Amino acid sequence: MIHLFVLFCLCWWHLTGVFCDSVSVMEGDSVTLNTDLTEIRKDDDILWKFGAEKSLIAKMNKKKQIFSTYDDVPDGRFRDRLKLDDHSGSLTITNTRTEHAGVYQLDISGAKKSSKTFNVSVYARLPVPVISSNSSQCSSSSSSNCSLVCSSVLNVSHVTLSWYKGISVLSSISVCDLSISLSLPLEVEYQDKNTYSCVLNNPISNQTTHLDINTLCNTCAVSVSLIVLISSAAAGSLMIVVAVMICCICRKRKKLGQEIKQLMHMLKYVTFIRHQFQY
Ligand SMILES: *[C@@H]1O[C@H](CO)[C@@H](O)[C@H](O)[C@H]1NC(C)=O
Ligand SMILES: *[C@@H]1O[C@H](CO)[C@@H](O)[C@H](O)[C@H]1NC(C)=O
Ligand SMILES: *[C@@H]1O[C@H](CO)[C@@H](O)[C@H](O)[C@H]1NC(C)=O
Ligand SMILES: *[C@@H]1O[C@H](CO)[C@@H](O)[C@H](O)[C@H]1NC(C)=O
Ligand SMILES: *[C@@H]1O[C@H](CO)[C@@H](O)[C@H](O)[C@H]1NC(C)=O
Repeated sequence: MIHLFVLFCLCWWHLTGVFCDSVSVMEGDSVTLNTDLTEIRKDDDILWKFGAEKSLIAKMNKKKQIFSTYDDVPDGRFRDRLKLDDHSGSLTITNTRTEHAGVYQLDISGAKKSSKTFNVSVYARLPVPVISSNSSQCSSSSSSNCSLVCSSVLNVSHVTLSWYKGISVLSSISVCDLSISLSLPLEVEYQDKNTYSCVLNNPISNQTTHLDINTLCNTCAVSVSLIVLISSAAAGSLMIVVAVMICCICRKRKKLGQEIKQLMHMLKYVTFIRHQFQY
């Protein structure tokens, strides 16, 4: 009696699809839903169905020589993307997009009936997060802290953005819904020698950006030294201008002196000639 009950339970479990495989795939990649059969029997009917409406997307029967994929059901989203393995009956979806996520059902009928469901999740490719200095904090650079923000512009769901110090998480923010942008602040001291990184991840992948404190946190210091540099350069050029002007004036004076000299010479000559004429 107990055995029968257990058997009933197992059957019921099986029929209600509790044995559901979870399959994750990265957008753009291919995913194969395995029948777990090496060779299907000749007169088995293999049916692949998709979604709540259980639209028939593939059918196979070796005896009747049927190997068909129906890629315009339910709405053309599977067009040129379905491949049926004619030995195992496994179904491959190529070049996946988020619209291919959902429940797929495999029904095998023949001498023995069996059924299997697959819950396919398609995850987007993640962009690399961007670390930037929070410039509004730069003006109050009297503190020894550097204010940073890690951000990501995306349009995907199920992502987490986190700040890591070494290998431990400092802070993180998660979104389940579709989100357009995410950002997470961080305060570090200018002299901090730890390694910090910002990680964007979803359940199957991640993208990491390492913080370079020297480059990002010295923007205020850099701008200050830049101002010093520019002003000293300006002072330098002013000095050059003055020097050039002085030079010019000098040269002019020199020229004037020469002219005067020439004039004096001429004057001397003229007086000499007058002397000659007088005698
Ligand atoms: C499929 O998996 C997703 C993510 O793990 C889950 O949210 C969803 O409820 C599952 N659907 C079914 C029908 O099991
Ligand atoms: C920059 O810092 C200020 C003050 O801490 C904060 O209000 C602002 O949200 C920060 N900006 C970003 C982009 O996080
Ligand atoms: C985000 O994605 C949704 C659906 O995928 C789309 O309707 C929306 O226009 C997208 N938003 C942006 C800013 O790309
Ligand atoms: C500077 O940052 C540290 C953490 O790195 C924080 O404990 C401290 O309160 C901050 N100081 C100021 C003045 O913001
Ligand atoms: C990011 O993914 C790599 C594998 O691609 C893994 O080794 C690493 O631990 C992941 N890092 C985080 C912070 O999740």
